[in-house]
Amino acid sequence: MLRRNAKPPEPPMDTLAATAIRHPLDPLTEAEIAAVQRLVTGHAGFRDTMRFTLLELVEPAKAAVLAFRPGQGITRSARVVLLDTQSGAILEVLLDLTGGRVEAWRQVETEGQPPIILDDFMKLDRIVKADPRWVAAVKRRGITDADLPLVQVDPFSAGNFGFPEEKGQRLVRAVSYWRESPRDNGYAHPIEGVVAVVDLVHERILTLVDDPVAIPIPRTKRNYDPDSLPPPRTDVKPLSIVQPEGPSFTVDGWDVSWQNWRFRVGFTPREGLVLHRLSFVDQGVARPIIHRASIAEMVVPYADPTTNHFWKNAFDAGEYGLGKLVNALQLGCDCLGTIHYFNVPAADDHGAPFVMENAICMHEEDYGTLWKHYEFRNDVREVRRSRRLVISFFATVGNYDYGFYWYLYQDGTIQLEAKLTGIIQTAAVMPGEPYPWGGMIGEGLGGPTHQHFFCARLHMSLDGEGNTVSEHEFVPRPWGKDNPYGNVFDTTSRVLARERDAAREADGRTGRYWKISNPNKKNVVGAAPAYKLAVTASPLLLAQEGSAIRTRAAFATKHLWVTAADPAERFPAGDFPNQHPGGEGIAAWIEANRPIENADIVLWHNFGHTHVCKPEDMPIMPVEYAGFMLKPSGFLSANPAMDLPRDTEASTSASCCTPAPNSCCE
Ligand code: NI
Repeated sequence: MLRRNAKPPEPPMDTLAATAIRHPLDPLTEAEIAAVQRLVTGHAGFRDTMRFTLLELVEPAKAAVLAFRPGQGITRSARVVLLDTQSGAILEVLLDLTGGRVEAWRQVETEGQPPIILDDFMKLDRIVKADPRWVAAVKRRGITDADLPLVQVDPFSAGNFGFPEEKGQRLVRAVSYWRESPRDNGYAHPIEGVVAVVDLVHERILTLVDDPVAIPIPRTKRNYDPDSLPPPRTDVKPLSIVQPEGPSFTVDGWDVSWQNWRFRVGFTPREGLVLHRLSFVDQGVARPIIHRASIAEMVVPYADPTTNHFWKNAFDAGEYGLGKLVNALQLGCDCLGTIHYFNVPAADDHGAPFVMENAICMHEEDYGTLWKHYEFRNDVREVRRSRRLVISFFATVGNYDYGFYWYLYQDGTIQLEAKLTGIIQTAAVMPGEPYPWGGMIGEGLGGPTHQHFFCARLHMSLDGEGNTVSEHEFVPRPWGKDNPYGNVFDTTSRVLARERDAAREADGRTGRYWKISNPNKKNVVGAAPAYKLAVTASPLLLAQEGSAIRTRAAFATKHLWVTAADPAERFPAGDFPNQHPGGEGIAAWIEANRPIENADIVLWHNFGHTHVCKPEDMPIMPVEYAGFMLKPSGFLSANPAMDLPRDTEASTSASCCTPAPNSCCE
């Protein structure tokens, strides 16, 4: 997870610009992070009690990226958000790395808080266990003195419910779990009805909530360490993915080229993986599609009104940092085949650089049939297999593990798939009583119903600048002269011209979909080249109008938002969602109702999953999927994958094809 590097490298400042930075979007190097740390800690305003809650590259604006040519001079800037853990002060520092100077050092005025950091994790256990009120509360539920050191205390983002004593404090809400040994899965043993609201600055429990009714701790083991697993099944034969000539992609620094795709890999502490300048080469020309793509925010609201749960609303990107919590992916475990890993330089809470090894995984996957036809009249039979490029990372945020997989296909399709796995939040249930707020998952153990929302931020650049979003639906045409047989239905088309028109919900009944087009260009049939946003059946936020979470996570109340691109508008729940009362972010931005037709636009697609817990979710839930696709829809002049070679290894290998006619593996 988060690591400290005791000895940061210290190259002289003047060599920084020259060390391996070839493009303005290259992630910060270790040397640059070390320089940021030196500049910040050397500043007169710096105190030892300050922690780096964020250290990131200031990405240049779109116009600057478009104007950049290889070999040109590159100016580099960084941004740091400091938290003074003693005073609670929040500071933003802007650094000019090319000039080697602090450009701005200012207090941040926000009703929110920087994300929860490793420091908070570390001190929480100590603060909570030192409070006799908390000790008494957990003992009332069966915890003994011997159990206390092993009790797991989780720092959960506190939310904001307008409780007056909480205003202006840096808080987490701590829930606890009994563990018999350090390797025990604590989530099987929740200590119900005890929540410590912890003031992290003054290092004390601000409020201890201790329900009068003490529900016993469920004691059934639900472990998954190797010793606890059942004997492995013996009927799984090896499945080898072999690429004898290596992968079909090439990597040059952060630049990737695969089949007709070109893009740059980026990474931020908050979003994790970012794809920049995603382009498709069509007849020798790289045509841009997306300028920048990322998952900019998440929220996971719980639907249980009781003490341990009503306030659970994790904004995993803004309150924790998906990039900060990235896993080091291991060959053969998370990904199969010939893998390219990207190691990502990062900063710890003290600003010290370290490298997150194998943070991003890239590989190719066989994906079945791409196209096929057998013409019985003339015996022409052609089939081509599909292959996709996978660029992925996994983040572990407390109990949950989220995988984010971008897939690029040979037919021009772009897909994002979120994989939801890990361990669910749990609730102890009074023996013999039902659990009304979710599903029973074991003896005395319930899983509260909850929702997961992901918000993709897609800064478009479809066939260049000037993009328009339109909405389309299928509508039956009334009987009449132009519909004498009653079979006709129409496809409507409506331009979303202004931001307030573009806060939209999906509708499967009418097949509603959205297209992003470039009205300044013409395709092969004289229309504007376009991509279609293909959404999956996805929930919307179910919390009531007027609830705290609805104000804080307004982005989750619609499936689609479109805004005029503004580099300051990066996160749909605002810059500091931790403990923020809400009202910032996307719902506020669209009040300006800026024109978005033939403009530089950002699409925000909110998608997710409503999770009703079930026994199969324990001890670790099988992956649940959520995501979307972008498919060429008049972008290309024909199927771009007709040129795929026939004799791929898969279609000729003996293990795949039997000698019988018409039996080649598809
Ligand atoms: Ni879930």
